[in-house]
Amino acid sequence: MEYKNKHVLAPMVRVGTLPFRLLAAQYGADITYGEEIIDHKMIKCDRHINEYLGTTDFVERGTQNVVFRTCPEERNRVVFQMGTSNAVRALTAAQLVSKDVAAIDINMGCPKSFSISGGMGAALLSKPELIHDIITTLKRNLDNTITCKIRLLKSSEVTVELARRIEKAGVSALAVHGRRVPDRPRDPAKWDEIADVVAALSIPVIANGDVFEYEDFERIKGATCVMVARGALWNASIFSPSKSSWEDVKREYVRQCILWDNDVKSTKHTLKEMIAHYSSLELPEGKAVIKSANTENVALDESDQQLRIHSPPLYMAQILLYHSSICI
Ligand code: FNR
Repeated sequence: MEYKNKHVLAPMVRVGTLPFRLLAAQYGADITYGEEIIDHKMIKCDRHINEYLGTTDFVERGTQNVVFRTCPEERNRVVFQMGTSNAVRALTAAQLVSKDVAAIDINMGCPKSFSISGGMGAALLSKPELIHDIITTLKRNLDNTITCKIRLLKSSEVTVELARRIEKAGVSALAVHGRRVPDRPRDPAKWDEIADVVAALSIPVIANGDVFEYEDFERIKGATCVMVARGALWNASIFSPSKSSWEDVKREYVRQCILWDNDVKSTKHTLKEMIAHYSSLELPEGKAVIKSANTENVALDESDQQLRIHSPPLYMAQILLYHSSICI
């Protein structure tokens, strides 16, 4: 994995499943993170080749629950992000998926109480020995690129000190979200403090925070890569110099969700975020998404709907054609 002038899709729970990652890549994302998956959950999964979709699925034993789905097309750019508080468990989970992804990333920034109470996410920021243990264990036993994603600490000096320790432990790159743990998403990202980390390290830094337009990729000075979350969630064509309308992006997203049989909860959540940002969930479209029980019902593209209803063979042919063009 190369970390030079790359535009990166950030990890986003319930959003960053296969269709959304492929969508972002279609518009120009160079590196695409999956949603955070907790190691406890991953180690309960078996690896299945899904011949029908052309994907590799990690399915929770004894259920049909697909915890992580990927495909060969994204093998060289997909990052598997994990939540963990234990080096051995992290390794067990990472070993399951290591052949199918380009990099493994450890989430060290999640401020949610679920993560913190389990000793994961931002709880790791105050445990440098455990960070060292997790990174060195993964490095010693895997061929993948290993990275982690942190938030800013209480001052630039303290952040830089931790970043240096993480660099020493052997990560290939460090993603820095330019907010402190108690900050809210509406608080502005502190790009100057990210710049302090960039200046202090020799490894690439992936700068993250408040990239809402393509031009913003250039505004985070010095960072070798720039990562975007909400700007991509609202309109994944942010990765392209010529932005598409959010309605077009939304339709393409739904199409991808159908093609890759995305979990309906993820599809609905992502669509609701897009609609709430640009329109309103109170309008008919928003209400229809909230009500829909499966991904097909969520399909908003009139022509696709007509095709499916009036000419199922043509619709299937369209799906097969699409798959053969991207998966072979
Ligand atoms: C996130 N974020 C996040 N971070 C992470 O490390 N793992 C995750 O799974 C998630 N999940 C997630 C879901 C959603 C819906 C959002 C909006 C955010 C945080 C995200 O990756 C990023 O660090 C912040 O959102 C800041 O970037 P932006 O939004 O300012 O570009």
